[in-house]
Amino acid sequence: METPDFVFKGIQNSPEHVKTAWQSPSNIAIVKYWGKIGDQIPANASLSLTLDACHTRTEVSCRKRESGEKQQINFFFEGKEAPEFGQKSFSFIQKIRGFQPFLQDYHLTIKTENSFPHSSGIASSASGMSALALCFMSLEDELAGGYDDEFFFRKASFLARIGSGSASRSIYGKTTVWGEHHDFIQSSNLYAVPHRENVHPVFDSFNDVILLIHEGSKSISSTAGHAALNHHPFAESRYREAGVNMGLLKNILAAGDVAAFGELAEREALMLHALMMAGPQPFILMKPNTLAVITAVQEFRKQTQTPVYFTLDAGANVHILFPDEVREKVLNFIEGELVVYCENKQYICDRVGNGPVKQQL
Ligand code: PMV
Repeated sequence: METPDFVFKGIQNSPEHVKTAWQSPSNIAIVKYWGKIGDQIPANASLSLTLDACHTRTEVSCRKRESGEKQQINFFFEGKEAPEFGQKSFSFIQKIRGFQPFLQDYHLTIKTENSFPHSSGIASSASGMSALALCFMSLEDELAGGYDDEFFFRKASFLARIGSGSASRSIYGKTTVWGEHHDFIQSSNLYAVPHRENVHPVFDSFNDVILLIHEGSKSISSTAGHAALNHHPFAESRYREAGVNMGLLKNILAAGDVAAFGELAEREALMLHALMMAGPQPFILMKPNTLAVITAVQEFRKQTQTPVYFTLDAGANVHILFPDEVREKVLNFIEGELVVYCENKQYICDRVGNGPVKQQL
């Protein structure tokens, strides 16, 4: 589908009030998206695992605006009015206006909360923007008189992408691809697609324990990080490498090759951070404890032959990846050896999840 296919086609119903809520998860990329073209078009395709425990719950209440009334948009974060958080939602609404012009006809009250601590350094944009996009799609669905699921979720992913690229992938459970790639036939730069066929069941229940290494905000936003690729000496080779890794990962997922999966995840994570450190204005998001964890994981793997691997996001936290069969052993290792590197000993036990859930109101 092309961009014009997502323009709202017309109103069937015009309710005075609509209230809708969605819970949407975060995701962790195995092949990373880093670098974009124009308005949120990825420079390379990416593949992620959708998480479960780390999620955002968003409720949107819409009240029809009388003509002449100024539109009100009120934003509550974790129960308190939070205009500073509302700014992101507000600019998102401006950006998607062309695709959902009816949003201007309503006063909006947006209430949102995260399952993870706000200052944990876990990116909330993927879960937050996907939850908001789904709420807006539920409103559109009501106005348009009902969509089929395929279009509903595809447009939700399209809208979420405009808010935050990685959010496009949170719309679907399990394994998700965003960005055109010849090995993934349905893939698109405009929205993510679920990658369900030929995925070995070992990846359906994969674990991701997120070690919270550093609380507080990052020294550089992901927007600035993506922009750094525009004048980066290694950009072209990175995009080529990401394309190759997508092809490899497709085969690895089909074969259920956990070792190859983990090695690829680690290479991608280190390449992401190497790009940050080798750009025209270098920056470092890892902390000493990030490196201490990486070293400990690799050492433990070597000594015990346990299939445990790491990946990183654009931050200092470390995601520990492992299959269910070694869960107890790895959790003991984390408690015994890794927790000392976490800020306030905090970590979150997450795993692959089934995607967003519409909330009963
Ligand atoms: O969605 P953004 O713009 O916050 O970018 C996310 C970038 C990474 O998390 C580093 C990688 C990815 O693909 O999720």
